[in-house]
Amino acid sequence: MSAADAEGTEHHPITEAVLARLASTPDARTHALMAALVRHLHAFARETRLTEAEWFQAVSFLTAVGQTCTDRRQEFILLSDVLGLSMLVTDQNHATPPGGTESTVFGPFHVPDAPRFALGEDISGGAAGEPCWVQGRVLGPRGEPVPHAQIDVWQADAEGFYDVQREGLAQAQARGVLRADADGGFRFWTIVAEAYPIPTDGPVGRLLEATGRHPWRPAHLHFMIAAPGHERLITHVFRRGGRYLDSDAVFGVRPSLIADWIRHEPGTAPDGTRRDAPYWTLDFDFVLQPAAASAPARPEEPSA
Ligand code: BEZ
Ligand code: FE
Repeated sequence: MSAADAEGTEHHPITEAVLARLASTPDARTHALMAALVRHLHAFARETRLTEAEWFQAVSFLTAVGQTCTDRRQEFILLSDVLGLSMLVTDQNHATPPGGTESTVFGPFHVPDAPRFALGEDISGGAAGEPCWVQGRVLGPRGEPVPHAQIDVWQADAEGFYDVQREGLAQAQARGVLRADADGGFRFWTIVAEAYPIPTDGPVGRLLEATGRHPWRPAHLHFMIAAPGHERLITHVFRRGGRYLDSDAVFGVRPSLIADWIRHEPGTAPDGTRRDAPYWTLDFDFVLQPAAASAPARPEEPSA
């Protein structure tokens, strides 16, 4: 039985011919990936009876996706995100045992080497939004503190933009890198997260429009947490009660990642400072997993 028959698709000479041409691929994994891609692509074209005009439209669309990418914008990741592929790959690669903090999409707005802050400092850098005090602990699977984890945090401002989306902004805003203390504790000031739309001014926006979908993400704060001996965690914390929790444009919400963000009237904040305007607090603990014994090498920057 051919591979195509085993997949439940019809036997077709063109598919068999391409698969045969791939047979001498030296790397076994490359061979498996390319053969599966060809089988599924051909099955898609047969199932949909793809026309030449539709094929050309798809080529033009992917060309536009590539042309939209710059060193500040990654439209291919955005495409993967809105198709649910990023979240599928994240889920497949990060099975989280009960009690562990679940992973979610990385997104396109992380910046390597963001400014470093001491615990308790304000990472907002003047970004618009109501102040928010964030605190928590980084723990291991048995609830033990994980000392000195590196915590990378980033978010959009009150108008729904990341600093990297603002042309001409000289300094980082609402992002930073902190180091947890010896008990795994961390704390910092930022601004409260708000729901925002993913970029819609490119081909992915046109795709959302053509399929009747909205572009909104529910309010969230991004975290990337790394500590020796533990799996690196890439996740968000979402605002309970916010809009779009059940229709995130990129399918990133996990119920375990939804937390209470509490609004307070002016008064004394948890760090003892006097606040003359309303402020928010978020308290969230992260539970890391031990590093796999022979974890495969991972690229410096995740792509999903
Ligand atoms: C984000 O949360 O930053 C994001 C994730 C996926 C696509 C666009 C934005
Ligand atoms: Fe985000």
